[in-house]
Amino acid sequence: MNREIKIFPNSKVLNLLAAEKFIDIGKEAIKRQVVFFVALAGGSTPKSLYRLLASEPFKNQIDWQRIFFFLGDERNVPEDDPESNFRMINENLFEPLQIPQANIFRWNAGKKAPEATAKEYETAISWTFIEDEEERTRPVFDLIILGMGTDGHTASLFPYTKALSESKRFAVANRVEKLDTTRLTLTFPVINNARNIMFLVSGAEKAETLKNVLEGEFEPEKFPSQNVNPHDGNLFWLLDEKAASLLHQK
Ligand code: 6PG
Repeated sequence: MNREIKIFPNSKVLNLLAAEKFIDIGKEAIKRQVVFFVALAGGSTPKSLYRLLASEPFKNQIDWQRIFFFLGDERNVPEDDPESNFRMINENLFEPLQIPQANIFRWNAGKKAPEATAKEYETAISWTFIEDEEERTRPVFDLIILGMGTDGHTASLFPYTKALSESKRFAVANRVEKLDTTRLTLTFPVINNARNIMFLVSGAEKAETLKNVLEGEFEPEKFPSQNVNPHDGNLFWLLDEKAASLLHQK
């Protein structure tokens, strides 16, 4: 695993470099295998990145028809709910770029039991990445974009939750007691099988947790983001100065 920590003066510059890296990784994937498989993060941080990718100059720098989009996690709500990650990504990326529906793999959340939604999503991932069941190898995303919560969670892998120890499933429903909700999330076996992982972390409110995650004791139950360690892939931490303000390694 190759790990790089890059610190930028502010979130605007961070997003410009993240957009450039998205395009570079995407172009390399398309050159290597004709298509680009990416799993996107929800939350608020990546919204500006998605808007950037859907605008000049980035929108003309890659063939969007060759990109297949997954979501790293989803809330258990319908797509028109303000909490929906799909809704945020659709408004800021898919619709502006007119991404074909066939290129978008959504969780189909909020309409059935979350376990059924997760199973259905896992099947969609398997069909996309794995030719035959016997193979049962883990899917290899070319890029997974992740955020980090102030509690150190990533995707919907929250501290002290069951999904943290999932070692076989690709996608699960994860009960998050402190939020009194069940979330839907990719699991570490899939995340750590990615060729590239890009964490986007900005804002002073993340500084303390980021210091614990990057420089503290290894406590992955307490700080799940510590468990993101791609087996063979590249791990990029793209930070703004506010989030990185407590780090020693700069
Ligand atoms: C979600 C995200 C989640 C997010 C972090 C950081 O569904 O909320 O996938 O993992 O990346 O909570 O969120 P912010 O970017 O809003 O700080």
